[in-house]
Amino acid sequence: MAPNGVSESPVDVSAATTAMNLQATSDLVKQLAAGIDALTAGGGKDDTLRQDLSIKARDLMLSLETPRETSIKHIWAETGATGAISWGVDCGLWKQIARNGDRPQSVQELASQVGVDSLLLARLLRHLAACGFITETGPDEYKPTNFTKSLSLDIIGDAYIALPSSSGGGQLKFHEFNRKRGWKNPTDAHDTSLQYAHNTDKDLFAYLQGLGYGQHFNNHMRGYRQGRLPWMAPGFFPVKERLIDGLDMSEDPVLLVDIGGSVGHDLEEFTKYHGDAPGKLILQDLPAVITEIKDLNPRITPMEYDFHTEQPVKGARAYYLHSCLHDWPDSVCESILSRVKAAMKPGYSKLLINENVIPSTGAWWESSALDMTMLMLFSAKERTEADWYDLIERAAGLKIVKIWSGGRGVESLIEVELP
Ligand SMILES: C[S@@+](CC[C@H](N)C(=O)[O-])C[C@H]1O[C@@H](n2cnc3c(N)ncnc32)[C@H](O)[C@@H]1O
Repeated sequence: MAPNGVSESPVDVSAATTAMNLQATSDLVKQLAAGIDALTAGGGKDDTLRQDLSIKARDLMLSLETPRETSIKHIWAETGATGAISWGVDCGLWKQIARNGDRPQSVQELASQVGVDSLLLARLLRHLAACGFITETGPDEYKPTNFTKSLSLDIIGDAYIALPSSSGGGQLKFHEFNRKRGWKNPTDAHDTSLQYAHNTDKDLFAYLQGLGYGQHFNNHMRGYRQGRLPWMAPGFFPVKERLIDGLDMSEDPVLLVDIGGSVGHDLEEFTKYHGDAPGKLILQDLPAVITEIKDLNPRITPMEYDFHTEQPVKGARAYYLHSCLHDWPDSVCESILSRVKAAMKPGYSKLLINENVIPSTGAWWESSALDMTMLMLFSAKERTEADWYDLIERAAGLKIVKIWSGGRGVESLIEVELP
């Protein structure tokens, strides 16, 4: 099966039952203790430090675990927990637990409140407690955690339905999909691991719409951005100097067109930071998404639009693409960019691309995880700086003016103009 013909492991079986790196643990504990003191002394506000510490805590846990345990965690515990969490989202368990408040809650009580089988609920909650996601307070009795409370929010919980539970075959069958294609990096948007595993010819968006989970995906898009610095915030991209100041006020100008903007969360956020900015804000997405919008700031004009077709809004001050190009291999991105390019006014219009720029070393785990998602669901990718220059300048014939960084793990803003 292996392309190089190697079928035997040179490793002794004792490796699987030996802690991964016991020697590292003592130092990690000291670093963690000192870091946590510093974090607490600062009121828990230093998010970079908190993230650094969570990586050290992860390393500590992996150092103590044996490889056998780590693999059992992956293949039984995490996959099972994901299924149990999705089940709880679907039947309304997390909302019910949150509604009951912080007190201990029995399985019997919860089963009758939600309308599910108590035997089944007991098994699912027992596993989630064993994994540390909910607190066991007695036999068949549990108390919510901050995590289970957050699952009651649609913008957090719905992601489980939209991604692992609906499209997880893309990840789990990737080896087989890729083996059958000669172990090559996949770049065909019409031949993806998602399509192979789920026996569909649709892309993820159409596939989820067909399952009735389009709104779940949109909620995930609203959720994953929480707690991250948006590009229009002070200290990231100078919106006034680079966009507003140059706006041509002569005839009903368009300030910003958000292409593939989902249900409008980026433009909504823009109005919070720049509520008095002149010019129209236009939100474009596929009809199935635009018709799902319930509330939209009246300053935003929704518009059904397919980005593979001619851009109807010509000469806007800025066109904006957030987490759209990463969904597609270069050939499709070139076509999307050509539609924007044709609508841009020379010397005036900008294209703002809000995407990860993966560094050459030390990729942040959320960015590399997103790269895996793009690879296994879309045959696409998160891009490095070199990838972006190649796509935008060489392939699409546009010019990168500057890449504005949002910090570790946050999408950069790539400012692009006509050459
Ligand atoms: C990963 S989501 C990003 C959404 C939003 N920009 C954000 O960052 O939250 C990709 C978006 O592209 C939209 N999309 C997919 N195909 C499209 C097409 N052909 N034309 C316009 N939008 C499309 C999807 O509906 C979805 O809202």
